[in-house]
Amino acid sequence: MINWDDPLNTNKKNNKPIKTLTESYAKSDVLNNDFQQQEKSVEIIEIEAKSPMAKTVDNFQKTAHNDYTNADKAINNEHYHSNKKYQKTSLNIESIKVSDKSVINGLADVNQLAPFKYPWAWEYFLNANKNHWTPLDINMAQDVHDYQYSLTDTEKHVYENVLAYLTTSDILAMRNIGLAVMEKMTAPELQIYQARQVYEEALHTWTYQHCIETIGLDQSEIYNRYRVVPAINAKIQLANRRLNSILRSDIDLTNQDELNNFIMAYSFFAGIFEGCWFYNGFTPIFSLQRRGLMKGTSEQLQYIMRDEVLHASFGIRVVKQIMLENEVTLDPKAIRAMWDESEAAEIGYAQYILKDPILGYSAKDHIEQFRFIANRRARQLGFKEPFPGAKNCTPWLDEQANMRKEKNFFETRVTEYQTGGALDWD
Ligand SMILES: [Fe+2]
Ligand SMILES: [Fe+2]
Repeated sequence: MINWDDPLNTNKKNNKPIKTLTESYAKSDVLNNDFQQQEKSVEIIEIEAKSPMAKTVDNFQKTAHNDYTNADKAINNEHYHSNKKYQKTSLNIESIKVSDKSVINGLADVNQLAPFKYPWAWEYFLNANKNHWTPLDINMAQDVHDYQYSLTDTEKHVYENVLAYLTTSDILAMRNIGLAVMEKMTAPELQIYQARQVYEEALHTWTYQHCIETIGLDQSEIYNRYRVVPAINAKIQLANRRLNSILRSDIDLTNQDELNNFIMAYSFFAGIFEGCWFYNGFTPIFSLQRRGLMKGTSEQLQYIMRDEVLHASFGIRVVKQIMLENEVTLDPKAIRAMWDESEAAEIGYAQYILKDPILGYSAKDHIEQFRFIANRRARQLGFKEPFPGAKNCTPWLDEQANMRKEKNFFETRVTEYQTGGALDWD
C-alpha cells in the first residue's frame, strides 16, 4: 500500500536518516543500479560539462535553426574545436557524470534523464501517476441537493469560503512550482515530477471550478473573495510575498543570501502552504462528509489531498537535499518567524470561516490541527517542532489521505484508475 505521507517508505527502509552527502550519494548509487543497466547499450554523445548549463543551452540554441545534420556539425565545430567545453569523441561513449548533477547550480546536461542522481524523484513521478482522475468522474448530484436543502447557513459559509480560498491557492501553487521553482532545478528527474505537479495544480483548479459550477455558486463572487475578505487575503498575501521573492529572472543561487531565501520560500510552500494549509484546509469539508453531506466534493478533495501530500513530501525532500549539497544552515529566528506568521494567518482564517462552529468541527479544532500538522512538517524538514504538545484533535484526517477508494456503484462512478494494472492500495 502506498503511504501517501511517505510514499517511498523511507522511514521503514532507512531508519537512519540521511545526514551527509556521502550517505545520500551512496543511497542514490544503490537505487541507480537498475536504471544504469538499461543505459549500457544506448549510444549517446558525451558532454563533459564544465560550464554552467545556462551556457550549454545558449550554445545549443545558436544551432537550433539548422536541421539535425547541421546541428550535429555545429556541435562538432563549435563545441569541440573552438571552446572545448564539449568533447564529442565518438557516437558511443560514456554517459554524463552523476557527480556533475546537483539539485541547483548543476553542471550536467539537463536534457538527459539518466543516469539518475535522484531516483527517488522518478519514483515520485511514477507514484503520482497512480492517482489519476478528473472531476467529471465523480457524481455531484447529491451535493447539489445537500447544498440546496440540507446545509445550514453556517455550513454554506464554511463550504463557500473554503472553496474561495482553495481556488486562489491552487493557482498560486501552480505558479510557484511552474514559474519560480522548476526553472532553478538542474536535474531533469526533479523537473519531471514538478511538471506533473504543475499539471496537478491545474487539475485541482478545474476541480474547484467544477464544484462551483455544479453547485451553482456565483463564480466571479467566489473567485473575488480573496480580495475582499481580509482573513483569506492575509494567507494569500503571505504566500505571494514568498513567491515574488523568488520569481525573478536575475536570482543567483550561488549567492548565499539568495540561496537561503530560495530555501525558505520552498520550505514555506512545501511545508506550510501545501503541507499544512492544504492538508488541513480540506478538513472542514471532510467533517461534512463524515455526516453524509457534500460527499462528491469531499471525494474530489480526497484525490487532491493525495496529490498535495506528495507535493509536500517531495518539496521537503528537495529542500533537504539542497541544504545538504550546499551546506546551508538556516537562521532559527527566520524559521520561527515563518511559523509564527503562518499560525497568525491560519488563526484569522479559521476564526472567519468557522466564526460559528459546525457540528463536530470548530475554529479551535482547526487551529489545533494546524499546529499538530505543523510539528509533523517541521520534523520532516529537520526543524525544531514549532508547537510542542499540539494535539491531534482530528485523528480521522490522516485516514482521508490513505483511505481505500472502494466505490458504492449507486453513488458514484468507478474512479480508481490503475496505470499498468498493478496498483494495489493495500
Ligand atoms: Fe493543488
Ligand atoms: Fe500542490
